[in-house]
Amino acid sequence: MPTLLAIESSCDETSASVCRDGIILSNHIANQTVHEAYGGVVPELASRAHMQNIVPVVDVALKEASVSLDAIDAIGFTQAPGLIGSLLVGAQFARSLALALDKPLIAVHHMQAHVLANLIEEPRPPFPFLCLTVSGGHTQIVRVESPSDLTVIGATIDDAAGEAFDKSAKLLGLPYPGGPLIDKHAAGGNPERFRFAEPQIDGLDFSFSGLKTSVLYYLQKETKANPAFIQENLADLCASIQQTIIRILLKKLQRAVEQTGIRDVCLAGGVSANKGLRAALAAWGERNGCRTYIPSFQYCTDNAAMIAITAYYKYLDRDFSDLSVSATARAAWH
Ligand code: KG4
Ligand code: ZN
Repeated sequence: MPTLLAIESSCDETSASVCRDGIILSNHIANQTVHEAYGGVVPELASRAHMQNIVPVVDVALKEASVSLDAIDAIGFTQAPGLIGSLLVGAQFARSLALALDKPLIAVHHMQAHVLANLIEEPRPPFPFLCLTVSGGHTQIVRVESPSDLTVIGATIDDAAGEAFDKSAKLLGLPYPGGPLIDKHAAGGNPERFRFAEPQIDGLDFSFSGLKTSVLYYLQKETKANPAFIQENLADLCASIQQTIIRILLKKLQRAVEQTGIRDVCLAGGVSANKGLRAALAAWGERNGCRTYIPSFQYCTDNAAMIAITAYYKYLDRDFSDLSVSATARAAWH
């Protein structure tokens, strides 16, 4: 019954989680609001906030789990990918703690962890399954044979789905991060009102840069004729942009199901919080005879529980890291 402490600090959330025998006992997340004024995450400010947050966040996670440090059997942390300054804070903290407690250290890949967030709660998908991971930095279709055997079979060639949401939101004059705001305004809009470009790319890869450009040109043209165009049509614009992003995602997912014959399909990453995407995935699953799975919201956006569950499976495999392991901003993954 291993008890693990895990740390996540790859971007702008400082998070710690305690997990015992694969069961999450706590998942504490400190959001950094300091970036809102800048329209995006400022790396230097993110590292400083992580330094301030990390000790209290770990403290709360241990308290919520009613676990003391001497009961911890191993320490997991996000090793890559992410902002290097942010990653280094978590990595350094985890290494120091592993050294002080004389316990094994487990380096976790952030994207593997997003996928394995689907193994935290019931119903868990059976192996093999497919996972569509959609976040601010990544868009991938992953084929999962086991917790340690994952293959990326499709990925974006330019922007990530979350970036497509955030950049479109910026063009609409919405503050960062705009993804959740597009979701909110889309709820009252007509998704068929406007048509934006969809990429024609073979295979399982994605592209979102054409959509962004087509939104930009369309808004430039319309606001020239009517400066209040965005304001007057915000809900329909948000609904149409969201619908286009969802169509692009589901088209490739459909193709992945046809190519692999795998009919258990999971969602992961921050964009899986999107209500339109959740509803569309469920409806798509029913139409296509696929079972679909979406983690609870707190396990979709960046969190340490997904690092803990991944560290747990690595612990079972005795997949430990040397204390000299360092964080890396980019890490090739399969
Ligand atoms: O996985 P995540 O928390 O961080 C990364 O690793 O990137 O994903 C953050 C991304 C942002 O682009 C944000 O706008 C998007 O997820 N996002 C959403 C929603 N909630 C978060 N996009 C659309 N609808 C949402 N409800
Ligand atoms: Zn993430």
